[in-house]
Amino acid sequence: MLTRSIVLIGLTGSGKTTVGKRLAKQLNCSFIDSDDVVLQLAGKSVRDIFEQQGEQAFRDLESRALEAIFADHSPKVIAAAGGSVLAESNRQVITNSDSTVVWLDVEPSNLLRRVTVGSHRPLLDGDTSATLTAMSAERRSLYAQLADLQIDANVHDINQVVRTVLDHVAKRDNK
Ligand code: S3P
Repeated sequence: MLTRSIVLIGLTGSGKTTVGKRLAKQLNCSFIDSDDVVLQLAGKSVRDIFEQQGEQAFRDLESRALEAIFADHSPKVIAAAGGSVLAESNRQVITNSDSTVVWLDVEPSNLLRRVTVGSHRPLLDGDTSATLTAMSAERRSLYAQLADLQIDANVHDINQVVRTVLDHVAKRDNK
């Protein structure tokens, strides 16, 4: 049984949602994606929030979503959207939760091949390659700061990534 939550962090398109759902299934616990909580709080899509209210309004909702997610202490798998590490207060909330934080580390050039542009990723609408490179430069050190486990997820082998997380969690729980 899962004793503490697992938080997946990493750039947009790194596989947080896919890996998170698989982990939750294997661990028989619930899965929450911070973007879904934002959607519930706002009553509109991530794209609509960006277009109608701007990025700062989205970031404020994202902070509220993370607070709500971590206010419930039952162990679960959480995908924290790519930009959720930007605010110091969000990083505090994640650190204070005593979760196992897993960074899915993927190079921008690989993300470019994988990421679906459109839908909930308005920041990637323009020059996707340049945006991913800039995001990576800005965020890598923040992901590194938070992570208990960094997984090189450049090779898109979901099974391997899931196994690595499960092994880490099992070892940590047996300590
Ligand atoms: C963002 C990532 C997206 C979504 C929004 C902003 C970011 O989530 O929250 O478009 O700033 O990296 P995913 O990481 O789930 O793609």
